[in-house]
Amino acid sequence: MAFIIDGKTLSQKIRRSIKDEVISIKNEKGKIPGLAVIIAGNDPASKIYVKNKILACQDAGFFSVHREFDENADKLALIRTVAALNEDENIDGILVQLPLPRTLNADEILPYIDVRKDVDGLSAYQQGLLSQGAPDLVSCTPNGVMELLRAANIGVAGKRAVVVGRSNMVGKPMAMLLLNANATVTVCHSKTENLSEITASADILVAALGKPRFITADMVKTGAAVIDVGMNREDGKLCGDVDFENVKEKAAAITPVPGGVGPMTITMLLQNTLTSFKRKNGIE
Ligand code: GUN
Repeated sequence: MAFIIDGKTLSQKIRRSIKDEVISIKNEKGKIPGLAVIIAGNDPASKIYVKNKILACQDAGFFSVHREFDENADKLALIRTVAALNEDENIDGILVQLPLPRTLNADEILPYIDVRKDVDGLSAYQQGLLSQGAPDLVSCTPNGVMELLRAANIGVAGKRAVVVGRSNMVGKPMAMLLLNANATVTVCHSKTENLSEITASADILVAALGKPRFITADMVKTGAAVIDVGMNREDGKLCGDVDFENVKEKAAAITPVPGGVGPMTITMLLQNTLTSFKRKNGIE
């Protein structure tokens, strides 16, 4: 039976320390970090994520604003909102919740976010820094995975890491972070041949493909660390990309869903916003 990596407890610990830091900066400088979240459309999961982001901001003592657009929102309206938030002194981080409605193309909106406020780490600038080994604001979910590995004392250097999924938000930055930490990294995707053979060679296996219980025990090496980034909804219940019940008998460590990677994403968003705020205000 694997060690269960507890993302909820780690997340609470990091959020407490962020909150303490915000209180002390507020007392000294009279300023607090600010996050803006933009959402368009009515995707129910996105609405829950955005609500949780706003609540997390309030709890950590951040200022937050929330700009909502309907399903038929105009591209220019979103771009103008981003432009105004870029200029807003009270805002240190800007996030456009994805996915956008089908009528809007994220590639035509996200590039307008000031890269210094890109707390999602999705810009070419932030992803470029990461790939050059000089990360600044790193995508929240993969950054959270690295924190979980560190907290669980899972060594990365020299290990064989396999990432299943190649999205700009998770798979690619995840691979870069593991590579920067000296793992030997393979990225698999929907066109990969002999996928199980590759996943079964992984000391660290990250599943980020968005298919419920896709990674089964036969695809996992005995003693591997298995990180499940999946957030799939089945009959109203959350379920990961890993067949947790069977894989936990084979792995040495595993993240549950919920309670593993999920809580870390918003925590890393707060951390990125704090980083951006501190830089703007010349705080070490
Ligand atoms: N949709 C699901 N997760 C995320 C995230 O981390 N950032 C953004 N912008 N959209 C998301």
